[in-house]
Amino acid sequence: MPMKLPFFKSKNEERFIQSEELTNVPEHVAIIMDGNGRWAKRKGLPRIAGHKAGMDVVKKTVETAVKYNIKVLTLFAFSTENWRRPKQEVEYLLRLPKEFLHIYLPDLMKNNVRIETIGDFDSLPDYTKEAVRYAKEKTKNNDGLLLNFALNYGSRDEILSAIKLIMKDFDEDKFSLEQLDEERLSQYLYTNHLSDPDLLIRTSGEQRLSNFLLWQSAYTEFWFTDVLWPDFNEEIFVEALMDYQNRSRRFGGI
Ligand code: FPP
Repeated sequence: MPMKLPFFKSKNEERFIQSEELTNVPEHVAIIMDGNGRWAKRKGLPRIAGHKAGMDVVKKTVETAVKYNIKVLTLFAFSTENWRRPKQEVEYLLRLPKEFLHIYLPDLMKNNVRIETIGDFDSLPDYTKEAVRYAKEKTKNNDGLLLNFALNYGSRDEILSAIKLIMKDFDEDKFSLEQLDEERLSQYLYTNHLSDPDLLIRTSGEQRLSNFLLWQSAYTEFWFTDVLWPDFNEEIFVEALMDYQNRSRRFGGI
């Protein structure tokens, strides 16, 4: 029996679409969760209140991704550039994974979600690493949605690290120059176990990649919304998925 999926046309009018209408659900969705600070400012709250609200939206977004059968959800949670923020905000952001997992790990288990990360994991504080390591271990046999947190992630840093590793392996005669192709280079990236993102969403009206998945998003479809991350919800997520249905992806062909 076809599953009925809600599609919200407007605030007052809700119609249901049949699952056949969503014929082309992106396998891998990546999200730049932007606008927490502005959301808090508009409410006269400290910036960290925006990040806290953003964390709760992560949980709802994961549930939506599970519901629509998305296979991989990559969330930009902390970039290599975020260290430049005030110390207190950096520490708050790096404590969020622990808080998130403390509250939501049982739900993630129930939803058969597996947790992984991309980024420079070793340079994270111990309290972040321990919480994330525990969650990775606990969820490693789940075969539903792969929830992939980009933590201390930056694409240029990733590509530079890959080049260093490639040069080392080349020096050790592990492959010839002719054998170095796109496929092999991809194996040295943090994302070596993942397919490239099909759809990349950025909230808050900014329209740039900000050092996120530069190599991997060569053929990704982009979708932008003015909505600030703490206001992101299922309705807006479905809008992005619906828009993706109509994109014609030719990967450089005709
Ligand atoms: C950008 O908004 C957002 C971030 C730098 C952090 C994103 C983190 C979360 C949404 C919570 C993460 C949750 C978990 C579970 C790890 P901004 O602060 O740059 O907003 P602004 O541009 O309005 O100032």
